[in-house]
Amino acid sequence: KKIVLAYSGGLDTSAIIPWLKENYEGCEVVAFVADVGQGAEDLEGVEEKAIASGASKCIVADLKDEFVRDYVYPTLTTGAIYEGTYLLGTSMARPVIAKAMVEVALAEGADAISHGCTGKGNDQVRFEGAVAALAPQLAVIAPWRIWDMRSREDLLDYLAKRNIKTTASATKIYSRDANAWHISTEGGELESTWNEPSEQAWTWTVSPEQAPDKAELVSLTVEKGHIVAVDGKTMSPYEVLTHLNERAAKHGVGRVDIVENRLVGMKSRGCYETPGGTVMMAALRAIEELVLDKPTRAWREKVGAEFSHLVYDGRWFTQLCKGLLASATAIAEDVTGEVVLKMYKGQVTAIKKQSPNSLYSEEFATFGEDEVYDQSHAEGFIRLYSLASRIKALKDQQK
Ligand code: ARG
Ligand code: SIN
Repeated sequence: KKIVLAYSGGLDTSAIIPWLKENYEGCEVVAFVADVGQGAEDLEGVEEKAIASGASKCIVADLKDEFVRDYVYPTLTTGAIYEGTYLLGTSMARPVIAKAMVEVALAEGADAISHGCTGKGNDQVRFEGAVAALAPQLAVIAPWRIWDMRSREDLLDYLAKRNIKTTASATKIYSRDANAWHISTEGGELESTWNEPSEQAWTWTVSPEQAPDKAELVSLTVEKGHIVAVDGKTMSPYEVLTHLNERAAKHGVGRVDIVENRLVGMKSRGCYETPGGTVMMAALRAIEELVLDKPTRAWREKVGAEFSHLVYDGRWFTQLCKGLLASATAIAEDVTGEVVLKMYKGQVTAIKKQSPNSLYSEEFATFGEDEVYDQSHAEGFIRLYSLASRIKALKDQQK
């Protein structure tokens, strides 16, 4: 028996390796590490750690470009934001990790995949939903739903008894998940909704109070709903994101502190930092303002709302995903232009925008005199537009 484990190098997945070997007689565990841009510290020495914990090998896959190009950028065209605030950082990364993990499992001739998600969260649903869609023949082993260990102390004891060294400590305040798009922080004092997050809860961004007093401008070039250049310099999706992360983080842009509805029913509280992504989202919406007419814009918002649930709920590899993306891509055909955004003390604002496809007409919109619009036409329009209300009101008056 061979099991491919989604391995992070953290305490949980380090304990899972010996646990699998003890509980699935004679099994071999292959550690799979996804590099989705979580940062060098997380990946340093990860292969040695996996082997030291008993993995037969450790495969590190560089998914950074694929993640941003094939998951983040398409999601941006839909405008998806979960429950109005969450930019879906963890949610979007799960399908790209799961897909790569399934490929490794198939190439290795593995029978099962395993992960360190708890039985209380969304991530288990996302991983296993992806596996079901991509390789239903693979079994899934979720130790957190099976074993009786409950705390970090339990895990440390478990490893100590087996002489497996770890640098993990018993006290770790938060549960964090990072990738190129965002870092999430849950747990610790955040578990009470009546606690303000402490400054240590935030790791990527400076607090808006500490941000520079001087605003910074950035110019983004958008082509068919994709940001292709920053300040005139052409960049790949991953480069755009990492570049903007750095600049926006300095201004405290992209912090949200929210209580969300998990798919499994409970509410949870999280602090999410998405500095570059917040700027990118604002840029695309600014071009949309210029180029989408009212019903198209309203439809794109519906697609975005629907897509936010699809991504959050772990339904990336579905028919619906293709359908919604096809709609968003068609609408994004016109989303081309240039936006200048101002970053200042936690805020990002689009201050200038233009597009070759802009439907904004100064000639029509002016409060001054114009030659193109005959105001008397409005009377007939309103008469018919409100006809149903008029008929209803007349009827009511006869009662
Ligand atoms: N609540 C967010 C989500 O469901 C973040 C989850 C963070 N995951 C983690 N393993 N720490 O997308
Ligand atoms: C977990 O429970 O593994 C993390 C949180 C989540 O998946 O929602």
